[in-house]
Amino acid sequence: MNNIRYKNYAIILAAGTGERFKNKIPKQFIKICGKEILAITAEDFQNSELIDEIIITTNPEYEYIVHEIVQKYNLSKVKKIIIGGKTRKDSSYNSVMAIDDTQAKVLIHDGARPFVSQKIISDCIKALDKFQAVTTAIPLTDTIIEVKDDIIESTPNRDNYMRVQTPQGFNLQILKKAHTLSINDNNFTDDCGLIIKHKLCDVHIINGDINNIKITYPQDIDTAEKIFFEQNS
Ligand code: CTP
Ligand code: MG
Repeated sequence: MNNIRYKNYAIILAAGTGERFKNKIPKQFIKICGKEILAITAEDFQNSELIDEIIITTNPEYEYIVHEIVQKYNLSKVKKIIIGGKTRKDSSYNSVMAIDDTQAKVLIHDGARPFVSQKIISDCIKALDKFQAVTTAIPLTDTIIEVKDDIIESTPNRDNYMRVQTPQGFNLQILKKAHTLSINDNNFTDDCGLIIKHKLCDVHIINGDINNIKITYPQDIDTAEKIFFEQNS
């Protein structure tokens, strides 16, 4: 019997500049209750017994901050700090291609999404025993409209749509194939989009959590402080 246990990787994307947040330092380095958002995010994966190695992507200008955070919080699973690219997809590409194993499970997570639970991480990793690709998602609460030229075209049935969160999880080989096929295409806001575009496999849903927010605008910091406080008191 083959008893090889392939590694489980977590890629944390932290190379963005946070245009919508409009802060001098990118949002992932802002502190919530005294702790950098990226540190909180990375600790979620550091503390998971299912994760073997962490790869963090960064913008070269802020590489020193990532090194400082890794040292300060003893993030021993962070084996590589990779320079990201112009788009999220480029940053993801650079990290995925930095994994040279033949087989592995890979979770890709937004560095600006600090409250991923241990349950979500383990549900994603375990689902990859059965499936080649998974995404975390939650039901919609608002009504969705399709718009053209500032006019509603249709009101689709909300039950057919979900909001995507991260992590998204993949079998390494299919993920590398998806990125290789999409090398000149930048119309993606997540990694599952690459799999879907090239019809490589089904992407299964893992139940997310309303606390698994992404910091996008300054107002999100208030919500994040509330969640942090609730989870740490
Ligand atoms: N990201 C990245 N490389 C990029 C762009 C984004 O690694 N070139 C990362 C961000 O650092 C973030 C995650 O992808 O953790 C989700 O992206 P988003 O929330 O859009 O962050 P930004 O791109 O930094 O923000 P904005 O779109 O407002 O500029
Ligand atoms: Mg962005």
